[in-house]
This record gives sequence, C-alpha cells and structure tokens, in this order.
Amino acid sequence: MRLTQAKIERIRRVNPDIWHLELGQVDESLFRVKPGQTLLARIVDDEGETLSWDPYLREQWWPLGMTGQKTLLVERAANPRYEPGQHISLIGPVGEPYRFGQRAKNILLLAYDTAPTPLTVMIPWLLRHSLNVTLVLLGRARRYNTDHLSAEVEVIRGDDDGLGWPDQVMSFGWADQMFTVVSPDDELLRFGELRQLALERKVAIPNHFIYGVFQPVTVCGTGACYSCALRMSGSARPHLTCVDGPAFDLLDVRLD
Ligand code: FES
Repeated sequence: MRLTQAKIERIRRVNPDIWHLELGQVDESLFRVKPGQTLLARIVDDEGETLSWDPYLREQWWPLGMTGQKTLLVERAANPRYEPGQHISLIGPVGEPYRFGQRAKNILLLAYDTAPTPLTVMIPWLLRHSLNVTLVLLGRARRYNTDHLSAEVEVIRGDDDGLGWPDQVMSFGWADQMFTVVSPDDELLRFGELRQLALERKVAIPNHFIYGVFQPVTVCGTGACYSCALRMSGSARPHLTCVDGPAFDLLDVRLD
C-alpha cells in the first residue's frame, strides 16, 4: 500500500446516479488493483495539499480496474464536487481481493438498503471469466439504476419491503457463491438477517458460500487503529476489514 497521487482525466456519466471517474497519472502500484481492493481518496491541490476537510476522513473508492489508456476507472455516486483536472491523493490498494471458488460458475450478488457498487465492480471480471451473474437489489438498493450494466447480468428487484424476492429458493439453489453488501448504519444486524435468510432457504450452507462485504469507517486503512475490527467465531484475534477484508464468510463473523 502506498500514498500516491492521480488526476481525474475524464468523467463519464453512466446514468443520472452513477459517474465513472477516469484517473490518469496513476502510480504503477495500482495497475494490478483487483476487485475487492479499495482506495482511500481525498481531493487535493496540485501540490498535494488538502483542499477541504469535509469529509474529514478519506472517502473509500471502489476501482473497476485499468482501461486500455492506462487510466484507472472508479465508480462513484454522482456528485458535482468531482471535476476533470482535479488532483486526487490516494492510499491503496487497501484490503484483499475477493476470493472465488475454483468450481464456482454461478455468482449471486445481493445489495440490501445500499448501493451495490462494492459488488458491481466485480462484474466485468466475472463476465470475462465466463461466470454467470445475478444481482438482487433489496430495499433502498432497488432504486439503483442498472442501465450501465452488461445485458448478461440478470437483475432482480425485490419486493417493496424487507428481504423478499420471487423465486428465492431457486436463487439460493442456483448460486455457488454469494456476495452481499448492506447499509453501513448497522452491518452486523443486516448481515445477520441475510445469513438467517440463507439458512432458511438453503438445505445446507457450506463454508465460503455467503460473504459479507463490510464497509466500516476506515480511519487508517493500515491495520493500526482497529476501528474496523470484527469479532470472529472461534478466534480470539479480531479480523480487520481494512487488512483482511473487505469480504468475510458470514458463517465465521460474530454477528451478535
Ligand atoms: S481502519 Fe484502522 S485498522 Fe482498519
């Protein structure tokens, strides 16, 4: 992980809610950033000085990967704060890449009450490797505009309330692996609801089947402050989202 600087070369408005920022002058250490790894970003001036302390902490950015023009693509919620030519201070890559089972063919992505960006960033990689992808959007995630996603992705929007969607049992049976993301306001509670749902809808939940992608407040991103610690079953040592995560097997995390 390194502290580096890049520049917003272009902004592509993929839909009214989602922008893709193309970062140029990216340090080589970020060329191989993988789905699941993030960047801690702050807008700075051309000398690297912070322009504003709002937000106080760096933002967690989810890169989609490098383009053919050696720019790094990042998905962000639409925000007029971002402009081409801006300099960005970056710390990263933070965390570990997502791990997919060697035999996995069908990947179920599920977002509950939050934007699915931590999940959608893996879709190009999954499709490139000929995996089948279904994206389930529940609660506030139902409002996420998916026009920019590949037509190869099946998108299911849930019922008006809670965790329901049609053919749930079939979805759980079809999936070889599942990655989920929930509203950061109470991740333990919401991941607990999803884990319970999986236990009720699937005959048996194997290890490495249902992963939660955690998004706690990331203060240092280096494993020094423990603000992102998670308690694990059968382990006295907490795991750190910024170092060991962001994805954890929900069977291993103590969600109580
Ligand atoms: S953010 Fe400081 S240890 Fe993870």
